[in-house]
Amino acid sequence: MKGESVTVRNIAKRYGSVTAVNEVSVEVKAGEFLSLLGPSGSGKTTLLMMIAGFELPTSGLIQIGTTDVTHVAPNKRNVGMVFQKYALFPHMSVKDNLAFPLRMRRVDRAQIERRVAEALAMVQLDAYGSRMPTQLSGGQQQRVAVARALVFEPPVLLMDEPLGALDKKLREQLQIEIKTLQQRLGVTVIYVTHDQEEALTMSDRIAVMNNGQIAQIGSPASLYSEPASPFVAEFIGKMNFLPVEYLGATKTGHEIRVTEASIVSVDRSLNPHAQALSGRQSVQAAIRPENISVATRGSGGPQAIAGTIDTSIYLGTHQILLVNIDGLSGPPLHIQAPTSRNLSTLRRGEPVDVVFQSDSIHLFSDRGDGQ
Ligand SMILES: Nc1ncnc2c1ncn2[C@@H]1O[C@H](COP(=O)(O)OP(=O)(O)OP(=O)(O)O)[C@@H](O)[C@H]1O
Ligand SMILES: [Mg+2]
Repeated sequence: MKGESVTVRNIAKRYGSVTAVNEVSVEVKAGEFLSLLGPSGSGKTTLLMMIAGFELPTSGLIQIGTTDVTHVAPNKRNVGMVFQKYALFPHMSVKDNLAFPLRMRRVDRAQIERRVAEALAMVQLDAYGSRMPTQLSGGQQQRVAVARALVFEPPVLLMDEPLGALDKKLREQLQIEIKTLQQRLGVTVIYVTHDQEEALTMSDRIAVMNNGQIAQIGSPASLYSEPASPFVAEFIGKMNFLPVEYLGATKTGHEIRVTEASIVSVDRSLNPHAQALSGRQSVQAAIRPENISVATRGSGGPQAIAGTIDTSIYLGTHQILLVNIDGLSGPPLHIQAPTSRNLSTLRRGEPVDVVFQSDSIHLFSDRGDGQ
């Protein structure tokens, strides 16, 4: 089995006045694992259904490899599909479920026998072939669904929240299993999820969807460290947002005023778009919890901002500190720090300095999430 590329060009789907998918273009490489990640209603399923052929696009083009499949029937696209609900045939044994796609394709009996056995082994269910779906756990049923989608060796596998119905522990186990299997087989996967951790764990690239469009596409690391908008910044990982005053450009980057008493510098590297800012204006500063440190009041250096501890939570590997910035209303800053004796003694009400790493501050001209 070898993966094929999937090309989606200017695809749109309208239901009356509702635009479910709005001019999406994406190029999925052969053998790539791409996740579609986004909130409910952002168009993930609709996009996947158009690639599978269960929905016809209002406009645009879909190609698998070099073949235009925009108007090709689903069963002629050679694409495997796994849905959230197990969707196994309840009246067929596991073996018969797996044999079904092969019978449909008129594969001969001996080959069916062999490929079903291989597919069962692939998902570690060798001993379960003669069971009925109801005699399997949720995780086992979903493994069978994955095996059934792969048994006819499609070059492309589409999955719509396949682990959504499982508990967290099983979900994490199957994430690794599916990822390992995908890499071993070299199959191209397009995977819908609204769970950002799942997308980060499994994907080569993630397309973050919002309002029927791709807000940003990139590797997990690039989306996490260089989100292009507040929407993406907030959707992947945890992000603190602060309304601040942009003061202007400096030799190394920019300056912002966080409170009356504190001016903070911001490196240029993360903020290429900030070049467009000119003169004083209000902007959003965004910073991840792990890029803020806490020092005793007065010892934070030039980037220090005065704050007061609201809550301190000890979590073994690290500590979460919620800190209110003095003179600012709004939710407390969420800070994640390595566990240390100094920090573990901090109590509610204690005055501290919070320090923003200047190379980790993002500036956005507004919340701009198009909502
Ligand atoms: N058959 C339909 N008729 C009318 N509107 C539809 C239809 N199918 C989807 N929509 C609308 O299109 C938009 C996108 O829906 P879609 O199911 O693709 O979202 P999703 O990202 O998969 O959401 P979820 O995470 O909840 O599954 C939604 O506003 C939805 O109400
Ligand atoms: Mg959906």
